[in-house]
This record gives sequence, C-alpha cells and structure tokens, in this order.
Amino acid sequence: MTIGILGAMNEEISLLLEHYKDYETIKFGGNTFYKVNSNHTIIIASSRIGKVFSTLSAATMVLHFKCEKMIFSGVAGGVNSDYRIGDLVLGVELCQHDVDITAFGHPYGYISNGKIFTKTDEFLTNLALDIATKEGYKIHKGIIATGDQFIHNKERKEWIKKEFKADAIEMEGASVAVACDNLNVPLCVIRAISDNAGDEALISYEEFLDEAARKSASLVIKMIEQL
Ligand code: ADE
Repeated sequence: MTIGILGAMNEEISLLLEHYKDYETIKFGGNTFYKVNSNHTIIIASSRIGKVFSTLSAATMVLHFKCEKMIFSGVAGGVNSDYRIGDLVLGVELCQHDVDITAFGHPYGYISNGKIFTKTDEFLTNLALDIATKEGYKIHKGIIATGDQFIHNKERKEWIKKEFKADAIEMEGASVAVACDNLNVPLCVIRAISDNAGDEALISYEEFLDEAARKSASLVIKMIEQL
C-alpha cells in the first residue's frame, strides 16, 4: 500500500525523516516529497502553511504519488478547555472557520455544493486512538476548525468555539479533508496541542512546537507499523 504523511512545516515531519532515514527525495509541483520503502511505500512532505498549499500537496500525493491512505500530522491550538499542551487530538470532523458568504444567506463555513463539516476516516482514527491509549498518551477525538489565520486572540477563539463547536484550531486539516473526501481517500488528522489560541498563543507555540510536533509524528510511526 502507498501511504501519504503530510505535515505543514518541516518541524512536523522531521521526526519521520529521522526515523525512516533511507528515503528518495523527489521534487514535484513546487514541493519536495520524500519516498520511503518500508512495510509500505510512504510519501512524506511538508506542504507549507495554510489551506492552499496543503490542498495542493494532498492532491499531489493522491493523484501523482497514488497514495491510498493519508495521515496529517502536526500541531494545533487548543480551544476545548479540557485540552492541555501536549495532548493529542484526532479530527473527527473538520470545518473552515474563515469561510464567509453569509451575505448570500449561507451559514459561516459553508461554500455552495460543499459541506460545512468534512468527516475523516473512522478506521484510521480509531486505530490512532487505540495505539495512543495503549502508549499512555492523552488523546481526544474532536472537531477541528481550520483557517488561514494563526489565532492568538481570545475573542476570535471564542467565536470559532461557539460557531463551530470547535475543540482545536489549525491551518490545514479541513483543506486536506476536503481534498481527500472528494478524491475518496481515507484520511486521519492527528494534532498535538502547542498553545491555547488565546492572547499568549505565540509564546506557547514557540516553546512547544517541536515537542508537540514530534509527539504527533511518533504516533504516526506506530500507526504505520500496524497498517
Ligand atoms: N497551530 C498551532 N496553534 C495554532 C493557532 N493558535 N492558530 C492556528 N494554527 C495553529
């Protein structure tokens, strides 16, 4: 099987490249992809930040590299007050909090002929949950809100929480989910909490980015062993 593992930033895939060591580097479509032959063929990439670049990389992984399952790994801002820095969250449903065509009478997050919430794959998500629980990681299933904004403002965070019942916020999950849903490829979105998306978010993010990114990637490595 060919499996795609996508992060947004190099920090989110560095543990994977250290772990698999032996990989081929392929440049395609303006990005760099790393091909590993282990128990499966694995294609690893960091898309660059945001919805546009992550959609491009996800579609490239599926259409060009023929990935049959996709896993997104990275960090997120916690919105749910039960979430702590370092906790893992599995995105069960993802939405785009920055989509606004309310002028036409549509709800926030809605694009014509689209869905407000896109679901991820139940099998992959439950596999991640089982493995993480056995390994003693603190992990949640939740709603993830995605947008082209780093949220570091209590009011905006509270608005996203209220409007979408979001548990975590990041910048790529929903766009990758839309790509995978439309291309019929199962997806799992794993995020580790690096900050609380409030006024102190930037300080916390800078402190915990590496540790949180590596925690998420370590769960991905264990998942691949069991797929
Ligand atoms: N990724 C990690 N923390 C984030 C935040 N506060 N906003 C958006 N994306 C994030």
